[in-house]
Amino acid sequence: MTSSTYQGSRNNSQKVNLDPAGLPDPIKWVNGEVVIIDQTRLPLEEKFLRSKNYRDVCEWIKSLRIRGAPAIGIAAAYASALAAFEIGSHGKVDARLESALREINDTRPTAVNIRNILARLGRLDVSGRSVGDTFLNEAHKILAEEIESCRKIGQFGLELVPDDAVILTHCHTGGLATGGYGTALGMIRAAHEAGKKVSVFADETRPLLQGARLTAWELKKLGIEFKLIVDGASGITMKKFKVNMVVVGADRIAANGDTANKVGTYNLSVLCKAHSIPFYVAAPASSFDLSAASGEDIPIEERNSDEITSFRDCRSAPEGISVYAPAFDVSPADNVAAFITEKGIIRKPFVENIKKVIG
Ligand code: MRU
Repeated sequence: MTSSTYQGSRNNSQKVNLDPAGLPDPIKWVNGEVVIIDQTRLPLEEKFLRSKNYRDVCEWIKSLRIRGAPAIGIAAAYASALAAFEIGSHGKVDARLESALREINDTRPTAVNIRNILARLGRLDVSGRSVGDTFLNEAHKILAEEIESCRKIGQFGLELVPDDAVILTHCHTGGLATGGYGTALGMIRAAHEAGKKVSVFADETRPLLQGARLTAWELKKLGIEFKLIVDGASGITMKKFKVNMVVVGADRIAANGDTANKVGTYNLSVLCKAHSIPFYVAAPASSFDLSAASGEDIPIEERNSDEITSFRDCRSAPEGISVYAPAFDVSPADNVAAFITEKGIIRKPFVENIKKVIG
């Protein structure tokens, strides 16, 4: 994959990231517009959405048209540039732009990437400059860095993946969920590209089926051997197929290593303990939140009950029932064997080592 470190003005298009496996770019900048592939339509349709309006990008994030913690962080950076262009901000972040940035911040609460990236934009020197151009250049840098981080995660992860590995994963952590290449899925991809034999069990990931729709789509395109399982089959799968490791991504990792990720991840971490299987978390530095002392400080998004009582337009539960719909859960640090980051592998004791590597 070649990624561009683009520097330029609003109407220049970014060079395309050419993924050798033919995977589309999750997000790019073309002629003054943000372009994404609509992840809610996959795998049925490869539909692209484009807009100059930051509010559209906010809607795409809320509705999971673009999703995955690093990808929504990148989308937040481009949305901030669009907002600054729309407002015509120059030399400072004025009250109107601040209010737009708050809207972007509030799209989804759990992934810290949005907040880390907005804080990064907030530290830029915009005096005497177009804020839109300054944010846009930074968004391009962030995108290139996230892709590079994923590739490094893949390389660091190689030492953990044995040949003939049986790996179980949850949700979707591939190229579309990042800037390209992927975190947990990037680690699996790197092992496959290094010539190791890997076979994957992909949880379907209820209720929105990121595993069935996106992980299966990406693994198929990459030519990696896999089987799709329902979330409830992870226990029997670990036992019957001698799973060597579980590797997942993260939406927010607290200073002590407690990790928020797609709901159901916590269950897997407990199952791993019961089966003495290492439970790994692959995530870039942009997914760590050292201001959160533990998982208690991580806000957990609750989604609309419709996402559980129906799928697309098909109702699957009776009308008028009550539902609990957390989108994420927290796996305790104690259950995590190691974190694979672009800065290296972080092992226990996490409080000290996370601070050393990420802080
Ligand atoms: O609700 P989603 O689909 O955005 O949830 C995504 C996840 O939980 C991913 O595992 C996580 O963001 C890591 S993506 C590299």
